[in-house]
Amino acid sequence: MKKIEAIIRPSRLEEVKEALGKFGIHGMTVTHVTGCGLQKGKTEVYRGSQYTIDLLPKVKIEIIIRDSSLEEVVEVILNHARTGHIGDGKIFIYPVEEAIRIRTGERGEEAI
Ligand SMILES: Nc1ncnc2c1ncn2[C@@H]1O[C@H](COP(=O)(O)OP(=O)(O)OP(=O)(O)O)[C@@H](O)[C@H]1O
Ligand SMILES: [Mg+2]
Repeated sequence: MKKIEAIIRPSRLEEVKEALGKFGIHGMTVTHVTGCGLQKGKTEVYRGSQYTIDLLPKVKIEIIIRDSSLEEVVEVILNHARTGHIGDGKIFIYPVEEAIRIRTGERGEEAI
């Protein structure tokens, strides 16, 4: 199993979520975060306003998936999160050792 952590623009959340749902992804964790990338300390436009602060609002989506779905899910996120402008975000991928559904005790891919 892998964990996909995607940091995206808040304005792309609905579209990314819908695309993931159509792909068959049902479990995810979404957190509203702030962060910065290469342009730290420089301005970036968010909802029509120029920000000069160095932490911008972003959304973090965490999804645990089976290894065989990894590339397709990454493609879905890339295709729906990209605007082509700076600040589109990043995707980080981690190995996942175990998943357990608390209600039933199922483990591994059965639990995701
Ligand atoms: N190296 C990093 N470590 C942790 N989080 C990061 C890192 N780089 C970016 N992020 C997160 O991703 C968000 C979006 O980053 P951003 O898209 O601005 O990256 P970038 O490298 O500056 O690329 P771009 O030039 O396209 O803006 C940041 O606000 C931050 O939350
Ligand atoms: Mg940036």
